[in-house]
Amino acid sequence: NKGKYDHYMQKEIHEQPESLTTTMRGRLIRGGSRKTKTVLLGGLKDHLKTIRRSRRIVFIGCGTSYNAALASRPILEELSGIPVSMEIASDLWDRQGPIYREDTAVFVSQSGETADTLLALDYARENGALCVGITNTVGSSIARKTHCGVHINAGAEIGVASTKAYTSQIVVMVMLALAIGSDTISSQKRREAIIDGLLDLPYKVKEVLKLDEEMKDLAQLLIDEQSLLVFGRGYNYATALEGALKVKEVALMHSEGILAGEMKHGPLALADENLPIAVIATRDACFSKQQSVIQQLHARKGRLIVMCSKGDAASVSSSGSCRAIEVPQVEDCLQPVLNIVPLQLLAYHLTVLRGHNVDQPRNLAKSVTTQ
Ligand code: UD1
Ligand code: F6R
Repeated sequence: NKGKYDHYMQKEIHEQPESLTTTMRGRLIRGGSRKTKTVLLGGLKDHLKTIRRSRRIVFIGCGTSYNAALASRPILEELSGIPVSMEIASDLWDRQGPIYREDTAVFVSQSGETADTLLALDYARENGALCVGITNTVGSSIARKTHCGVHINAGAEIGVASTKAYTSQIVVMVMLALAIGSDTISSQKRREAIIDGLLDLPYKVKEVLKLDEEMKDLAQLLIDEQSLLVFGRGYNYATALEGALKVKEVALMHSEGILAGEMKHGPLALADENLPIAVIATRDACFSKQQSVIQQLHARKGRLIVMCSKGDAASVSSSGSCRAIEVPQVEDCLQPVLNIVPLQLLAYHLTVLRGHNVDQPRNLAKSVTTQ
């Protein structure tokens, strides 16, 4: 039932304040003698010791689920101190890459039925790794075959383009990082700030959803373009990849997410006065580097769309042709949850304006159960 919405994708984008609330329900609690806030993930509590002892955490997934894991990698590394590596499921299998008994392999999948991810799961089990699932679908193959895991509880996702599952996956993986790191005294303050940020996140997402009309206007400007580049780095490298994936899969427009640190190693050659380029430049440790990326693109007369923190629009778009999209600033590791929302809205409106099928893009299936 789409309710008041025209498409499931639109409904699922707009219901993110609620889906995120459900994802966190009962999992952020006050506990301990000092009544500090902690994370409780029921499915993992008997396994945290083993995970903390592992030599490496390997994230494995495809498409949007891979991107969600990528967005969560920095905070997991920071709070756990354990090296985290990333694997696209099909590539791990193609290479028969090394997986060891001392590894924790985390399988991320909305449907829980993706063939490539399942194959990688069988492979990791055979190699003796602890296999953890992060899925939206209770009773799915991945939920059943993993040793333990977390349901993201985002509610059924029907649009082929994954939207609300992405933001809920990130929130679960941030909670996973908090749970693994929960015995480290030195990061107590940081963890509490993140928990406060999580509790506030649904309200912040609601605020970002008010950009709907603005993103529709932007879509109107981009309607006849051939291509859109999206530059991000740090926490928002994943936002660049995921934003570009949405634009290409539903709006059927070529789009590429690019790690901004790689700009001078090739992509800069594409910059001119015609190609639209989105740059994610919200405030975090990478902000000054992104400012210099923006200046270099301005110098080549780039047509820029800059996503920045509230109050920064004037400074980021001070020269050249540039549109700014302002979003609230939150804890750095939660910023990707907000930053993807305008790009989801952009992809949605571009699709409608270009006259393509929103909920069933050509050639794609919701759940890819064949290799
Ligand atoms: C569970 C209940 C929830 C109840 C709550 C109350 C289910 C599905 N969940 O939620 O209804 O309100 O307790 O305490 O009954 N698992 C995997 N692989 C996965 C995902 C999950 O093995 O990919 C396992 C978990 O390790 C766990 C079980 O499935 O044993 C349920 O996981 P989850 O729903 O995340 O647990 P709770 O949040 O505790
Ligand atoms: C993108 C999309 C796909 C899926 C991918 C993995 O919007 O829907 O890229 O993310 O097929 O699917 P799951 O998460 O079900 O394993």
